[in-house]
Amino acid sequence: MALEKILVVGRQPKTQQVARPFTKKLYAADEVADIWELLKAADPNLIVFDADIPRPQIFDALRTLQNKSMVLPILIMGKIDDPDLCQYMQEYEMADCVENPEDSGAIGQAIDRIRKNDRDNAANRFFMEDCPSSVSIVGKSRAMSQSLRLIRIVAQSACNPVLIVGETGTGKELAARAVHILRCGSDQKFVAINCAALTANLLESELFGHTKGSFTSADREKTGLLELAGSGTVFLDEISEMPLDLQAKLLRVLQEKKFRKVGGTEEIECKATIVASSNRNLMQEVEIGRFRKDLYYRLCVCPIPLAPLRAESRKEDILLLAEYFIQTSNICPEKRGRIKGLTAMAAELLTRHHWPGNVRELRNVIERAILLEASERIGTSNLLLNPAGMFDQERSEGQPERIPIKDFSLEKAEKELVKRALDEAGWQKSRAASLLGITRATLYAKVKQYNLQEPIKNPQPVS
Ligand SMILES: Nc1ncnc2c1ncn2[C@@H]1O[C@H](COP(=O)(O)OP(=O)(O)OP(=O)(O)O)[C@@H](O)[C@H]1O
Ligand SMILES: [Mg+2]
Repeated sequence: MALEKILVVGRQPKTQQVARPFTKKLYAADEVADIWELLKAADPNLIVFDADIPRPQIFDALRTLQNKSMVLPILIMGKIDDPDLCQYMQEYEMADCVENPEDSGAIGQAIDRIRKNDRDNAANRFFMEDCPSSVSIVGKSRAMSQSLRLIRIVAQSACNPVLIVGETGTGKELAARAVHILRCGSDQKFVAINCAALTANLLESELFGHTKGSFTSADREKTGLLELAGSGTVFLDEISEMPLDLQAKLLRVLQEKKFRKVGGTEEIECKATIVASSNRNLMQEVEIGRFRKDLYYRLCVCPIPLAPLRAESRKEDILLLAEYFIQTSNICPEKRGRIKGLTAMAAELLTRHHWPGNVRELRNVIERAILLEASERIGTSNLLLNPAGMFDQERSEGQPERIPIKDFSLEKAEKELVKRALDEAGWQKSRAASLLGITRATLYAKVKQYNLQEPIKNPQPVS
């Protein structure tokens, strides 16, 4: 597969010719001194140095790249006779050389090797060694290593039901999907239901299904999730919110692996794995009579705990997750790859924050920062750790209402931000787009998405 962009350094036209088939865009620099501007402007995926470039110059360039923390694959044509460069090549995994500059087969193989190393390095940075590639759980902390170990053990056993516990935003649904993929494979269904979001009756008929006419609005038969999941997984999110009488019915399913539709008489077999999650302490819920003790013990065979981000045992994942979100977020496609990371102070701020909303909050903070940041590194001024306060500054009558923290979301923040930029720019779209650091096309899309309308100006009196 071709690389997106290759930068060829040197005056030999042949090097450009052999590199061309391996890339969509080819950039060229005559001399090493010319590469720095091009690196900034083109952001290539590989630098190829031709055979005529003096080896010490290449060595100096590589050292400079290293000092600038620019991690970039390198391919050197021709013999490497400089001892410093030889040493460097042995240590730096993403560098390779091709002795015969005309051997396009060897060049292709070298590019493949570089690509593979590059991919492995990226994956190794974010995921634990034994984290299966189908499970994108970022984290290398002690806490995550323990959680992942339990996920594997439970998934490979016949343990059913499975309980996942942790504060809001710690990754319970992600862990549930990991159990599902490792146990059932990605061909089977994963169906999720939030027990806090539905009324008791709706929840019951969603889970078990109902027969036609079993209640007033049941005008047709419905298949419940327990049946729909087949041999896959039913994820019961926030199980602590399930009404007590439904808890009793669920316990029966867990024990007998059978259930009946609401209003039905036929016994249906349940083959699915039931994964439940809770951000409440279920034992405490039992003590205050809101959760059935027998169901609690049935669920608690081998609970998988997910630590909060502020825990000493998980803290080291904060910056790793931040970097992962910077690299993978699609919130602002035109800035992708342009933002390289965090400033040292921003990193410090993130590690000191308490993270009550855990990974979800971190993701939102980073995505908001990507939207606001105009430079290559996210600084403290764009890390809004208390977003509800971001509209307080200079707020006076006629300016947007402060959004209550309970229903604050990234979309709302973005909508407010776009609206503010438009107001500030007097609804001139180009100005507003440049204030936000986005293109006019993106701004138009956001105006449409949020249905923003220019306020009607006061009619001028007719003189
Ligand atoms: N270890 C992780 N690696 C990558 N992304 C993560 C990780 N943990 C959580 N996330 C992301 O954070 C967000 C919240 O995760 P998830 O929905 O799994 O949390 P939760 O514990 O179920 O939250 P809640 O209790 O509020 O339902 C999701 O976007 C998820 O993809
Ligand atoms: Mg969840």
